[in-house]
Amino acid sequence: MERQQLKKLVLIGFMGTGKSTVSRLLSEKLGWKRVDGDEEIERLENKRISDIFADDGEAGFRVIETKVLESILANEECAVVATGGGAVLSAVNRELMLKNGYVVALKASPEQIIARVKSDTERPLLQGDAVERVTLLLAQRKHAYDFAHLTIDTTNMSAEEVVAAILEQWVIQQ
Ligand code: S3P
Repeated sequence: MERQQLKKLVLIGFMGTGKSTVSRLLSEKLGWKRVDGDEEIERLENKRISDIFADDGEAGFRVIETKVLESILANEECAVVATGGGAVLSAVNRELMLKNGYVVALKASPEQIIARVKSDTERPLLQGDAVERVTLLLAQRKHAYDFAHLTIDTTNMSAEEVVAAILEQWVIQQ
């Protein structure tokens, strides 16, 4: 791997797979900055994700998401980057991630994902029947996260265990 690729550790995964928690812990462990794609979008657009979806639709949100991801990855700073669950849907985004970072996919069982997100009122793609929405999106995105350098099933793991597993594999790659 080229040197520049090691400056970003990029977490991908479906909503509710633990990207935020794991990215926090990872950044603490590494002493690296943590950047959350969704938080960055909200900060730069000065708008909540749900409002962006309401005003510009999912397509509008995806355009902003790519622009922000590009700017997050286009610098020499070391960072742990948590991406939104749908950031992997764009081929441009996938290339950006693979080119600039070590990409780690977090997976979890549908039951655990549903348990984690079912009372969420914020995520625009989960409005309505959360079980139905998660089941449908999981089926649509069955292979969407397969491009990662490393995949970890977090279902029976604590966040600490996930972090340890990522660091172990990541060190081997260097
Ligand atoms: C989305 C996931 C969300 C957020 C947006 C769309 C998705 O991020 O980017 O609501 O398409 O899966 P999280 O995975 O952090 O919830």
